[in-house]
Amino acid sequence: MEILIYPAAQVVARAAAEMIGLSAQRGATLGLATGATPLLTYQELIASYRRGELSFAQSKAFLLDEYVGLAPNHPQSYHQTIREVFTSHIDIDDSAVHSPDGAAERPWEQAQEYEQLIIDAGGIDLQLLGLGTNGHIAFNEPATSLSSTTRIETLHPQTVADNARYFSSVAEVPTHAITQGLGTILRSGHALLLATGKAKAEAVERLVEGPLSASCPASVLQLHPHATIIVDEAAAAGLANLDYYRYVQTHRPDWQGADGLPRLV
Ligand code: PGA
Repeated sequence: MEILIYPAAQVVARAAAEMIGLSAQRGATLGLATGATPLLTYQELIASYRRGELSFAQSKAFLLDEYVGLAPNHPQSYHQTIREVFTSHIDIDDSAVHSPDGAAERPWEQAQEYEQLIIDAGGIDLQLLGLGTNGHIAFNEPATSLSSTTRIETLHPQTVADNARYFSSVAEVPTHAITQGLGTILRSGHALLLATGKAKAEAVERLVEGPLSASCPASVLQLHPHATIIVDEAAAAGLANLDYYRYVQTHRPDWQGADGLPRLV
């Protein structure tokens, strides 16, 4: 894993936007995340698009997850949220922005169809991820199979509590979601996880330095052949090998681009 530490959330966002921008330049299929963490990154990308530096016209996008029971036009659905915070502000074709249908009559079938849709699209090239305070990625809660595919997950009470801020009461937060599995995320070409703020420090420590364990679903990224973890100082505070990660970050070989891959010639 590549661990990049920056002084503040805004710098994390700039670094993430640079990587996503490089992918968009290649017409990549992007995996998008909702939640508070990627918002600054989306703002950076929108700004680059408005300056004419970037186009998403050749890209497709797949969301990580969707609440079961919320129709696509529900204001808190992730279908709606991603349009509001990102995709309606750039030139990606709206019909190329995919998410599971939370209102599907048979959500378990919808989950399998979504998994297949990703496979049929040729897979996700770059998957953006947030990190739950309990170590979840997408809505893969503790004890998720490390090879799981898209399915229905019961949200952890901690997750329901964390997400209650988007609803008028905790009781309104859906209890289930359709989520890409850990196996689905492992198949992405490049996994890019962002975590900022001290509330994420423990989860970052478990993800990077803890044992590979379903108790911390994000630790599955230790198995990903190309995972980048970008954190701010506050989220990095619990890392035992912090000095080494900083050393690696400042000794990047010349041939490496911002995404860790050989530079495009
Ligand atoms: P957050 O959520 O970005 O709103 O902190 C992250 C997550 O729960 O995956």
